Amino acid sequence: PAPGWSIAADVVVVGSGVAGLTAALRCEAAGLSTVVVTKARLDDGSTRWAQGGIAAALGEGDTPEQHLDDTLVAGAGLCDEEAVRLLVTEGPDAVRRLIETGARFDESTEGGLELTREGGHHRRRIAHAGGDATGAEISRALVEAVRARGVRTVENALVLDLLTDAEGRTAGVSLHVMGEGQHDGVGAVHAPAVVLATGGMGQVFSATTNPSVSTGDGVALALRAGAEVSDLEFVQFHPTVLFLGPDAEGQQPLVSEAVRGEGAHLVDADGVRFMVGQHELAELAPRDIVAKGITRRMQEQDAEHMYLDARHFGAEMWEHRFPTILAACRAHGIDPVTQPVPVAPAAHYASGGVRTDSHGRTTVPGLYACGEVACTGVHGANRLASNSLLEGLVYAERIAADIAATGLHARVPRPLPHPEIPEHPLQTAEARFTIQRIMTVGAGVLRSAESLTKAADQLQRLHTDAREALAENGKTAEPGVDTWEATNLLCVARVLVAAARLREETRGCHWREDHTERDDTAWRRHIVVRLNPDRS
Ligand code: SIN
Repeated sequence: PAPGWSIAADVVVVGSGVAGLTAALRCEAAGLSTVVVTKARLDDGSTRWAQGGIAAALGEGDTPEQHLDDTLVAGAGLCDEEAVRLLVTEGPDAVRRLIETGARFDESTEGGLELTREGGHHRRRIAHAGGDATGAEISRALVEAVRARGVRTVENALVLDLLTDAEGRTAGVSLHVMGEGQHDGVGAVHAPAVVLATGGMGQVFSATTNPSVSTGDGVALALRAGAEVSDLEFVQFHPTVLFLGPDAEGQQPLVSEAVRGEGAHLVDADGVRFMVGQHELAELAPRDIVAKGITRRMQEQDAEHMYLDARHFGAEMWEHRFPTILAACRAHGIDPVTQPVPVAPAAHYASGGVRTDSHGRTTVPGLYACGEVACTGVHGANRLASNSLLEGLVYAERIAADIAATGLHARVPRPLPHPEIPEHPLQTAEARFTIQRIMTVGAGVLRSAESLTKAADQLQRLHTDAREALAENGKTAEPGVDTWEATNLLCVARVLVAAARLREETRGCHWREDHTERDDTAWRRHIVVRLNPDRS
């Protein structure tokens, strides 16, 4: 459809988590007129759910070099060392600027930040807020700052596609806005710089820690726009998600790594600490190792979950340090003060995404990406705990600096493409659940050529059926949030499975049952995908 409305800006930021709002604040401060568009409300993304905290070398005796070492080890040979170096050296000041912006972190009794540990960190370097409500505090502070500084925002705005000019340069985005009055319906923000900060794609699996809005919209948009996407096979499964039954679907309550950082033990039904002896850091090994340890033990014992035992914390510590987790457990009938907490791994974080350079530039001129949607190279095959909020901050700031330094020229966008192009026919809303089940069975924690081939065939069938329906009826489904989200989920799921099939080794959070070893000869490299924009 033709756009019903349009607004113009220097920069449009898509998404409103730590990365999006930081980029918007810094762009606006640099004198760039900025619009933030976001799919639901400003605080509805993943940032608000982050518990453990934000990692940076802020503690006495800690250094960026040690943070770098831990990040590289977790990344299992695939981190871009320079990208990590930027992260860890610019990180401490970026956190200080976040504090200046208004975020209040927990302080120790001696004054100064109270720092905790999480998996893969050899030091206490995780700053946290409200005990285990770090993301909620960061989100609160950034939303308030954006409002106080008068940054324009459009909520309930689902991004559809990138607009480009005749030379293929970025010229804005098309959007579908629901119920915003003046911006209702399909429209556009015209801007020569677009910053994707749309978050992750956890909803591609049945059980995930991600909120329902995490449907891979930014990666799907980037793929349709012909940008390069990298490392999609590296989906991180958080080891300790509250187990709510084998058929639990949608967003699941996280039990932060910080609980283990403060001394909780992982045990099986017999009370045995099965991570001891598997890694020098036992329960605090990097996340992929703990997720694998739990999954293996579950298989050996034919169990649906393991337990996290932190009864020795006592009521006071639970209430003071982990109030969010305590409340979530109690809401589900488990009291961590007196009972071990049932936990199992669930999809948590996309280590890959839209490929960028060290300034957050993608391979499409004028299109930037930061936060979970991006693949800056800092996470490699497995993100180190609590590096994601930091990455969002640091790379958002780098993007704003790059846009301010580059100079912007208005572009004349080509007409909006029709949403039902044959290469990406709209999926029905129900397809979302079919995709989630296919992905959970075929491309979950444990993968094999057989499971991935089956998943690829099933996903292809969904795509082919929609193409055939479009050819026959001229339409497949009503355009709307549910159908566009399902279409985006299918797009990212197909690429994820294709990459996971190709990578015939086990590395980081990619675990192949039929190729159980890491293969540095053949696979110390990235799988980079770019779709031809004119074909699927
Ligand atoms: C957690 O609190 O365990 C999550 C931290 C992260 O995903 O980085």
